Amino acid sequence: MRSLVTGGAGFIASHLIPELLKRGEVVVLDDFSSGKRERLAGLEVALVEGDVADPAIAARAVEGVETVFHLAANPSVVASMSNPMATGHANDMGTISILDAARRASVRSCVFTSSCAVYGGGEPPCVETMAIDPMSPYAASKLAGEAYMMSAARSYGMRAVSVRLFNVFGPGQDPDGEYAAVIPKFIQRLQAGSGITIFGDGSQTRDFIHVSDVVRGLLAASQVDATPPGPINLGSGVAVSLLDLVRVLGEIAGERVEPQFAAARTGEVLHSRADIRAAQRWLGWQPRVSLADGLRGMVGSAV
Ligand SMILES: NC(=O)c1ccc[n+]([C@@H]2O[C@H](COP(=O)([O-])OP(=O)(O)OC[C@H]3O[C@@H](n4cnc5c(N)ncnc54)[C@H](O)[C@@H]3O)[C@@H](O)[C@H]2O)c1
Repeated sequence: MRSLVTGGAGFIASHLIPELLKRGEVVVLDDFSSGKRERLAGLEVALVEGDVADPAIAARAVEGVETVFHLAANPSVVASMSNPMATGHANDMGTISILDAARRASVRSCVFTSSCAVYGGGEPPCVETMAIDPMSPYAASKLAGEAYMMSAARSYGMRAVSVRLFNVFGPGQDPDGEYAAVIPKFIQRLQAGSGITIFGDGSQTRDFIHVSDVVRGLLAASQVDATPPGPINLGSGVAVSLLDLVRVLGEIAGERVEPQFAAARTGEVLHSRADIRAAQRWLGWQPRVSLADGLRGMVGSAV
């Protein structure tokens, strides 16, 4: 089996690719805008470097490929608020471009990483059939991607599955930069003794899902016999407030942590928790790694 991973130099892809390499050949498409070259070091992958939204690059990447894992995206909600055109280019045009290339190359199946951001301010638990509420250009771009995936399934007969990822965490996640995910950032600051800042009052809740669980979900989504009726949540099904997250991290690190607070960010969703029954039904998938176990694995090693 030959698989293509777009966004192959990214965090989630760096956990997916080793699993795919056990099953066959892997092509990586990445423009290294947020991805890191060192994540590909030592991995026997074919690299197509460039913009997924460029049809020529996408066409080169899908040659001889059976399954596409489309992870390439500008992943930042905050960046999308200030630069929606850049998000639209990478995310919306990127998805159209890769799906068009995939159908020309008769690719059998495609898995797209959408996001829980599409639920916006919807009341948790977030179930796939509830009304969506995109609160940022990033969320809108993921929703558009899901629609293009659905149309690819309908028009081209491609098996096209969108998974709505909740807050993914795990080793190798980038702790640096303004838009870094909360867990690696908190761990880095804890280890540096530099104090943790929470945007908002800390009562906001998130559904944290370990990257190894996400990888199992992506693989299961690539192996479905028929396209499910819609996108599928991959989350833990557990809501954790940021205050609780800081407390658990402090317990694991063996210290009491007093966070500082700053103004809440525009476009940020307040509460989020996945309903995971569809993943169980369509993918035979359940999460296995608890937040505490996953955090122990990160705090014990370099983030
Ligand atoms: N990490 C999460 O919690 C989370 C939650 C929901 C959805 N997702 C989605 O999962 C996917 C992977 O997320 P991640 O956390 O690994 O992010 P990441 O930033 O680590 O990986 C994204 C990769 O895409 C590449 N990329 C960006 N624009 C590109 C373009 N135009 N052409 C080619 N490559 C491009 C980047 O260089 C990077 O390597 C993204 O689509 C993201 O939106 C992630």
